[in-house]
Amino acid sequence: MELQALEREAQSAIAAASTAAELDDVRVHYLGRKSELKQALRGVRDRESGMALNEVRERLEAAVEARRQELEQAELDRTLEEEYVDVTFPGDAPPRGRLHLLTQIRRDVEDIFLGLGYEVVDGREVETTYYNFDALNVPPNHPARSRRDTFYLDDEIVLRSETSASQIRVMEQREPPVYMISPGRVYRRETTDATRSAIFHQVEGLAVDRGITLGDLLGTLLYFAQALFGEDRRARFRTSFFPFTEPSVETDVSCFLCEGEGCAVCKQSGWIELGGSGMVDPNVLRTVGYDPEEVSGFAFGWGLERMAMLRHGLTDIRDLWQNDLRLLAQF
Ligand code: DAH
Repeated sequence: MELQALEREAQSAIAAASTAAELDDVRVHYLGRKSELKQALRGVRDRESGMALNEVRERLEAAVEARRQELEQAELDRTLEEEYVDVTFPGDAPPRGRLHLLTQIRRDVEDIFLGLGYEVVDGREVETTYYNFDALNVPPNHPARSRRDTFYLDDEIVLRSETSASQIRVMEQREPPVYMISPGRVYRRETTDATRSAIFHQVEGLAVDRGITLGDLLGTLLYFAQALFGEDRRARFRTSFFPFTEPSVETDVSCFLCEGEGCAVCKQSGWIELGGSGMVDPNVLRTVGYDPEEVSGFAFGWGLERMAMLRHGLTDIRDLWQNDLRLLAQF
């Protein structure tokens, strides 16, 4: 083909190429090893036609390169246009979780006692009958030991029915003084209803030192009640019995909903029950190798569900275990 015509044809093919692949085909066709131009160059005999052919080759190569850049730029523009992201655009906020009511209460209780210099100790949910009963001075025929009240895994292993076992484990491991709390789950063979659950939480507390008295327990109870439920709370004891305390008391806090006047929450009594408590029985102290002539102590096991229900005015303990987000998300 005549050289000018060839160049014109090649130039318009280059201009017409609309993708990198098409452009490459055009380049191979007009500038590749087997192209007319390359063959002509190979067969060239005189300097002038050699220079003319080379100039055409150079112009075509430059045109291909220019077109390649154009196409790349167009592709980039298109991607930028299509995949444009406005990083300043407000996103969708993912739903935010919150702590369960029982976790909130547990942490608050822990904070209060940490502030008093107590340590927080983990107990075991699976316990031996020795720690759950024997070491706590629970006699062999006590009804709590029966398989109707307590979950037995085998003859000597139970799901703990109270957090009190952790008292023993701590005292076994160290010398007095001991100031500790141990919150956690406990298990009892109860039929679940509005006020009872087969699984619930207690916080065990223990203070053993020289000269600890029932007055220290009352003061601690009062401090705790006011820290958790408000400054106007009052506290009281009612006599009770537990095998591991002597004397034993139930600990009550004045109802903060009715200020002691009597309402549905406190069942018209003006008082709310936190749980059992008392002075650690000398037998228990002896069992762990403490000398009851040297040291004395108080202990308590209070219900966390009770505290959470009171704080939030819940009337059904099952609300705390059903994990209904419509309820839980309110607090
Ligand atoms: N373990 C008792 C219960 O589950 C509560 C309790 C009473 C714990 C007296 C104590 C205590 O530490 O001294 O009902």
